[in-house]
Amino acid sequence: MYICICKAVTDSQIQTAINDGINTRKALHQCLGIGSDCGKCNRHVRELVNKNNVPTGAIQAII
Ligand code: FES
Repeated sequence: MYICICKAVTDSQIQTAINDGINTRKALHQCLGIGSDCGKCNRHVRELVNKNNVPTGAIQAII
């Protein structure tokens, strides 16, 4: 599914980038160009980033 229509970027492409360590909205913008035109995708990108980022404290609690 397309998340950023302006740059023709799909959720799969964003997920792959996040899995490769590009895990901030700013970094995704720099890498894929998303969010720079109309900005309508920013909310969805933020949701994907938040879904995939585990707070540092939670990792420390597991360890
Ligand atoms: S939909 Fe992503 S910048 Fe327009």
